Amino acid sequence: MRFSSSPSSSWTASLALLSALSSLSTPANAVKYENFKTCAQSGFCSRNRAYADKAVAAGQSWEVPYQIVPDSLDWKDGQLIGTILKSINTKGDTVRLPITISFLESGSARVTIDEEKRQKGEIDLRHNSIARKERYNEAEKWAIVGGLELTKSAEVSKDGKRATVKYGPEAKFEAVVTYAPFGIDFKRDDVTQVKFNDRGLMNVEHWRPKVDKPKKEESEGEGDQKPIQDAEPEEDESTWWEESFGGHTDPKARGPESVGLDITFPGYEHVFGIPEHAGPMSLKQTRGGDGNYNDPYRLYNADVFEYIVDSPMTLYGAIPFMQAHRKDSTVGVFWMNAAETWIDIVKTKASHSALSLGIGSKTDTQTHWFSESGLVDVFVFLGPTPKDVTKAYGELTGYTQLPQEFAIAYHQCRWNYVTDEDVKDVDRKMDKYSIPYDVIWLDIEYTDEKKYFTWDPNTFGNSLGMLKQLDSAERKLVAIIDPHIKNDDGYPIVDELKSKDLAVHNKDGQIYEGWCWPGSSHWVDCFNPEAIKWWISLFKYDKFKGSADNLFIWNDMNEPSVFNGPETTMPKDNLHHGNWEHRDVHNINGMTFHNATYQALLERKKGELRRPFVLTRSYYAGSQRLGAMWTGDNEAKWEALAAAFPMILNNGIAGFPFAGADVGGFFGNPEKDLLTRWYQAGAFYPFFRGHAHIDTRRREPYLAGEPYTGIITQALRLRYSLLPAWYTAFHEASVDGTPIIRPHYFEYPGDEAAFAIDDQFFVGSTGLLAKPVVTEKAESVEIYLPDNELYYDYFDYTTYTGQGKKTVPAPLEKIPLLMQGGHIIPRKDRPRRSSGLMKWDPYTLVIALNKAETAKGELYVDDGETFDYQNGAYIHRAFEFAAGELVSKDISTKGKATDKYLKSMKRVGIEKIVIVGVPKAWADKTSVKVGSGEAMMEYHAGDGSKAAWAVVKGPKVAIGEDWTISFA
Ligand SMILES: *[C@@H]1O[C@H](CO)[C@@H](O)[C@H](O)[C@H]1NC(C)=O
Repeated sequence: MRFSSSPSSSWTASLALLSALSSLSTPANAVKYENFKTCAQSGFCSRNRAYADKAVAAGQSWEVPYQIVPDSLDWKDGQLIGTILKSINTKGDTVRLPITISFLESGSARVTIDEEKRQKGEIDLRHNSIARKERYNEAEKWAIVGGLELTKSAEVSKDGKRATVKYGPEAKFEAVVTYAPFGIDFKRDDVTQVKFNDRGLMNVEHWRPKVDKPKKEESEGEGDQKPIQDAEPEEDESTWWEESFGGHTDPKARGPESVGLDITFPGYEHVFGIPEHAGPMSLKQTRGGDGNYNDPYRLYNADVFEYIVDSPMTLYGAIPFMQAHRKDSTVGVFWMNAAETWIDIVKTKASHSALSLGIGSKTDTQTHWFSESGLVDVFVFLGPTPKDVTKAYGELTGYTQLPQEFAIAYHQCRWNYVTDEDVKDVDRKMDKYSIPYDVIWLDIEYTDEKKYFTWDPNTFGNSLGMLKQLDSAERKLVAIIDPHIKNDDGYPIVDELKSKDLAVHNKDGQIYEGWCWPGSSHWVDCFNPEAIKWWISLFKYDKFKGSADNLFIWNDMNEPSVFNGPETTMPKDNLHHGNWEHRDVHNINGMTFHNATYQALLERKKGELRRPFVLTRSYYAGSQRLGAMWTGDNEAKWEALAAAFPMILNNGIAGFPFAGADVGGFFGNPEKDLLTRWYQAGAFYPFFRGHAHIDTRRREPYLAGEPYTGIITQALRLRYSLLPAWYTAFHEASVDGTPIIRPHYFEYPGDEAAFAIDDQFFVGSTGLLAKPVVTEKAESVEIYLPDNELYYDYFDYTTYTGQGKKTVPAPLEKIPLLMQGGHIIPRKDRPRRSSGLMKWDPYTLVIALNKAETAKGELYVDDGETFDYQNGAYIHRAFEFAAGELVSKDISTKGKATDKYLKSMKRVGIEKIVIVGVPKAWADKTSVKVGSGEAMMEYHAGDGSKAAWAVVKGPKVAIGEDWTISFA
């Protein structure tokens, strides 16, 4: 959450002192472009782009200054280790760049390039800096949790020109490392899929001392001119040693140190991922031209006010992981660098007559990555399916957290619920209007003057009473806690932060002070293990007075947002634990704070082991392990509603699928039909929260009035009844990284027409195909069907079939939602106030028959709360309908807690089975066989375009047991 146009009076006075802020506090309706750098305003971005331009201009005559020393290359235990020499002048001087190419057991490869001089600390820092001299090499420590085992089975062969490594499953992968110029081709089944330095844009800015050049003298005569061959080409040093932006100067103690590399995907037309950006899922070209961007995609976590919906501008989170896709092939790269990063994308019509790439794959996507500092450290995933790539990436960075069940239900938030009575009143009204919700949220105003871990005594004097009322319906409270700690006398938390020296430092090693919500603040440095320990201690129930076990946490502003800092964040020369410059770690910063809070919620009380829920705004690769993200401060506009799905899809592609956007739009007051449509869309966000700015009118669903309140309630009920399906999808994501809402190319990697579709998607493996309305006054939508299967309208069983676009009615009260034939969808149909109250409710199974009259589905259930599922306390069933029989089969793995859990679930059964698309022959049936017994069945004839359906009532089978129901 960001600035109010009428900031609370407590800091308006202080604000006046900060002239830099004046432009930010004025109400406006567009992003403040001038607050964030364009590529041209970023030194290393301009330098790397200029380098690329030079290479392109030189064409064939471009001399790549990087080559591997052939003799240096050793193969040891799955790694090629050697040295790249960079020629730095015409005199033959070189710089040594150690390179390690690791081949992992998982089939992924990793290329790491460092710089020897910096590695050994043989450099001088300017300005008496106390910063570290090495290139930042700890990104792995935060991002990677596994999957680094080196392969034992790769085969290497070398000659004077190249080294070739065969690796991966059945040695189908191959890396060809060319020495001069340096480059690597990654192949699968003998076809090149990924090329490093193919265009010669690799750039490692080596360390050099600053040489103060004498001012150029007027040349005195012809004879004084130096012979031309002595002159080295002039380099543009203007941004090497310092640069300024928006009144802030960044003195760079280490000089220029960016790393860049071009990565080409031959034959690949689409690239996805690299969140967070607002724009289409299929990433655009970035070097100008019709409909393209002019700037590269930027990754530099920032608090961007009123961001626009189609832009490569940076936003709050950064995951430098990209997937490239062509017909029946997906590959990926993960650029593991935590510094400011930009990515240029260019697509070229290729003339690969030599390559047999197949029809429709004639476009190459050329990408160019560069970061301000750190290593070249890139992982390459060779697929071949999107699921393979996501799985391999997740083996390294972890899979999405399996959240508590309440966390995937509906969250009611606004800035702010103003008193504990207000919260209790909203809670009562939701009940009065029979609107389900699980969580109510508190933004910053609940605190005593923005001091976290306190409650405003005047407005939230009885937090425990409020928490107790919520708990009576199994509801939760989420309160915001940010990383800025108010610099205020008599605030014990800041006293401890200072005395224990756990805050981020400025370049001189003193505690850094900046401005945020509380005014003058310090920032806890969660790169410091001691700071994490301390942070954990603050959440103990006896320390965070007025908290209870149904209180969870929201981490905002963790980019970090610093109101008076450059680009609204910290100076790049601030120092973190270990004296790493903020520059080196910026994009990881938010994740370390999110992690500290996650760890804290694990340990609030001895023996209390429940899954934490922490929402974060800032994130990096790996944040998916820790909770949910949302897309920040969007606007109450149709365009923002439409922008959300592509963003959420790209986040899922990049391994962080627990994502959502503020329902209703954060800024501004949505029209009622926009609000209604937004709830219908939100019911399909993995993270589903309504939220609003402090200046907006109240918009709790019951305030909308009819028909809106009723329609919104229907959308919420739909989410609640499908919670078993959503939870099953979350489980799947938590074990293999498959996105929770899935773009078409994930399910149909061969269907070229649908690769770029980002306004409709599948929910998990359920076969539910949704296209919520995101445009004004729509009466229908066109849903693209990827195959010739039967598709049924979820609500009235209207049947659609035939590949291509179908018109599906979508009046305001209707969400365009189809069931693909061949699936079995688990539901719970009894309306309740919260998901917690549904725990023991019976299930409904919906069977959507395909043309072959078969269907399959899965259900995953656990206690939705603890970690007992890790000891086998869960139910995982496969349902299959074929040849007139429905079978429930156990697909779980037993553990020591299984039996006890199954016993507790014995009384949870199935109350109803709905079969859609049943043959006419079923018309005479009135019962089905359930084991040795029977259950009643009703047949409902089809009607024109609507499929016939049947319903089995009370089959009396338990959800956790094997059974067969015979319809024959
Ligand atoms: C999270 O915190 C734990 C516990 O202190 C620490 O070991 C781990 O390195 C941290 N991870 C991240 C991503 O911050």
